[in-house]
Amino acid sequence: KQKMIIDCDTGVDDAQAIMMALSRPDVDVIAITCVNGNVDVEKVCRNTLRVLKIPVFRGCGKPIIHSTEDAQFYHGKDGLGDLRNEIEVDLSCIQEEHAVTALLRLSKKYPGEIQLVALAPLTNVGVALRMDPEFSNRLQSLVIMGGNMHGKGNRSSSIASEFNFGCDPEAAYMTVHEMLCPIVIVSWELCLDHVYPWEKVQECMNADTEKARFLRDITRATLTTQRARQETGYRSCDAQAMAIALEPSITLETLSIHASVELKGDLTRGMLVSDWRKKLNKSPNVTFVTKIDTEKSLTIWMNMVHV
Ligand code: BDR
Ligand code: CA
Repeated sequence: KQKMIIDCDTGVDDAQAIMMALSRPDVDVIAITCVNGNVDVEKVCRNTLRVLKIPVFRGCGKPIIHSTEDAQFYHGKDGLGDLRNEIEVDLSCIQEEHAVTALLRLSKKYPGEIQLVALAPLTNVGVALRMDPEFSNRLQSLVIMGGNMHGKGNRSSSIASEFNFGCDPEAAYMTVHEMLCPIVIVSWELCLDHVYPWEKVQECMNADTEKARFLRDITRATLTTQRARQETGYRSCDAQAMAIALEPSITLETLSIHASVELKGDLTRGMLVSDWRKKLNKSPNVTFVTKIDTEKSLTIWMNMVHV
């Protein structure tokens, strides 16, 4: 089985992504590490436990330097679509051990075997790198939902940055420059171009299972928001990144390039900047996914409520 750690800021789409990973018999989710992002890290831990009852590791509660904003306007005050039916969570599942030390420990226990899927600001990953640079050498790969290819942003401040990179630009910078394992980037633009058909999402939410009812509860608000914006289908960035992590054959085209993260600009802080013209004369450090098989991604999405 493929060992996977999910670093997340659960979040509606993080929750959907976690459900997708758990529905796969070929994947062993060995830890969920939480970080400040869509909502504060306490709510993130709590939301993660609303999705599943397994040990979760509480990680960094603040970005490396400073932030910023959360995404309650989109994910709800509770970060999970403002669930109407409260779910009892067992807070004792939150481990004493910090998420960063858990990442370091597990990477030592399973060298070369772990796929790390980062669906949130990269604070935990950046701090892990600082504590032990060899950490990244022990991972099999890192799949990141975050960053952008062409400067399209989705934050209110720093208009050219994607949320996860914009929330902790320094951590994103450290990650793209210091990671020694391959980095796959699922960018904001890729997610804009690859959405799930409305009727299929509805079909999935209407299935007669407990998981489908949960999906319906957490998805309702974001679905309404996106429909009101007249988008072409339902966008779930973290689900798309998870599908790519789970099924290599989903990726149809990639582009490897040298990229860095803007740390200064008022309008661009947190933007992932690609050296398209090879002006910096540096080797590629990231691989963008540029085209995916949407049918295969949809199949994984649909399965999350059944298995
Ligand atoms: C990312 O931002 C967060 O709000 C989502 O959970 C996703 O990880 C999209 O930019
Ligand atoms: Ca997220």
